[in-house]
Amino acid sequence: MNGVEGLIVRVETHAAAGTPSLTIIGLPDRSLHESRDRVRAALANAGFAMPPGRLLVNLAPAHVRKEGPGFDLAIALGLLAADGQVPAEAVGRFVALAELALDGDLRPVPGVLPMAIAAKRAGLRAVIVAAAQRDEATLVDGIDVYAVGSLADAIAVVLGNGGKFRVGRRSGGDEPERADDFADVRGQVPAKRALEIAAAGGHNVLLVGPPGCGKTMLAQRMPSILPPMTPDESLDVTAVYSIAGLLGTAPRIVRTRPFRAPHHTISRIALVGGGALQPRPGEVTLASRGVLFLDEIAEFSRGTLEVLRQPLEDGIVTISRAAGSWSFPAQFSLIASMNPCPCGMRGDRSADCRCDDATVERYRARLSGPLLDRIDLHVSVARVPFDQLARAAPGEPSAAIRDRVVRARARQRARGSLNAHLRGAALREHVALDAASLALLETVMSRERMSARSFERILRVARTIADLAERDTVAREHLAEAIVFRRSG
Ligand SMILES: Nc1ncnc2c1ncn2[C@@H]1O[C@H](COP(=O)(O)OP(=O)(O)O)[C@@H](O)[C@H]1O
Ligand SMILES: [Mg+2]
Repeated sequence: MNGVEGLIVRVETHAAAGTPSLTIIGLPDRSLHESRDRVRAALANAGFAMPPGRLLVNLAPAHVRKEGPGFDLAIALGLLAADGQVPAEAVGRFVALAELALDGDLRPVPGVLPMAIAAKRAGLRAVIVAAAQRDEATLVDGIDVYAVGSLADAIAVVLGNGGKFRVGRRSGGDEPERADDFADVRGQVPAKRALEIAAAGGHNVLLVGPPGCGKTMLAQRMPSILPPMTPDESLDVTAVYSIAGLLGTAPRIVRTRPFRAPHHTISRIALVGGGALQPRPGEVTLASRGVLFLDEIAEFSRGTLEVLRQPLEDGIVTISRAAGSWSFPAQFSLIASMNPCPCGMRGDRSADCRCDDATVERYRARLSGPLLDRIDLHVSVARVPFDQLARAAPGEPSAAIRDRVVRARARQRARGSLNAHLRGAALREHVALDAASLALLETVMSRERMSARSFERILRVARTIADLAERDTVAREHLAEAIVFRRSG
């Protein structure tokens, strides 16, 4: 495993004449040296002879550090191939993912799902796993999974006698539909529009408004308008959930986009990932390809929020340790909510606000400039008056909004990238502005002293607004709407 991605390691074996010995090379860490003893004992107890002479095991590519007991089975099979007890071509067709017990039984290893995905993507077609992991491995379409209990059974599979260990693919039951619908929300047209744009292009939103105006209610309805995931996206999300131990006892493919809403007391490590030994993915990775919702964002500690800056900018989290560095995906859309001031009344019924200006200033400063700069759409949400709440007709249902989102995403897919990830030349190519738009942008940029980052973010949002309008080119009106959302906060 490298981060949340499986990496194919080729186990090569060689037997030479000489004093019996077993050496493992190819950047193994200390845990791999224990493999030697386990493999020796397991082979003996399963009734196979250890090949004689000097045995060499090489794990390629040699520049990547290898760790953990997951190579045991592959090493054992490789050694049997080294002196012809099993045919080398037969062994070479399999990906073997299991730890060996001394008696020759197979034990599960973490990360089987992402490793099976990597096997499939590398064009390998057959995977052997411990029996306990059959459900997880068979979530991957297009590979043959053999779930076996022992080394002897694994050898039977390699020799072509393992038909009974082959596991049929499971369909994995469907997830329940979500009930929360945007039709329940009265009024709040600009906020709904911002969330629609965010869902369509993968952008970030900040909702600012007094308590009870529906901020939480609005954000919780995001999942109902997010587009379905492609099979590949589903597999990636399922792999991350598997590593984080969120799949539970009955693994299934995750088909709905992640919506993660951590509490404001969350630690930095739980938010962005980390941990002492092998780093674990944090909420930003669990939310990747979906939404990270930070309700009452001003309640999060400032230090916690600042670590969001890198993932928000790069779509990736990098964690460095003495042993190496890991990167985890973090392509989420951030939805945040906050009150305009500690008592919540500023702006809406300013006369009732009990906070002095300095307090309000301090409260807003909990979100640093650089963090605010990374939020594309800023929306002031006002309280909906009681008579409107009681009498207004239901809003547009989520299904209708989602249809537009799905169409806008299809246009982006055809261009090759989600708008939120457009950079450099691709951004310039897909957001070619006419003279009127350029003039507007120039005026706003100089008047508001906007940063280059703001400028690029406005262009990406304008692209999404044009996609929602099913237009190939970004027009002045699309740009204007993107600018309004940038400034209204
Ligand atoms: N615009 C609205 N339309 C319908 N119900 C609303 C609206 N705004 C608030 N409510 C009602 O008030 C409750 C509290 O809203 P909530 O989302 O918790 O507000 P906030 O998070 O802004 O403090 C909601 O659960 C909902 O019942
Ligand atoms: Mg709330």
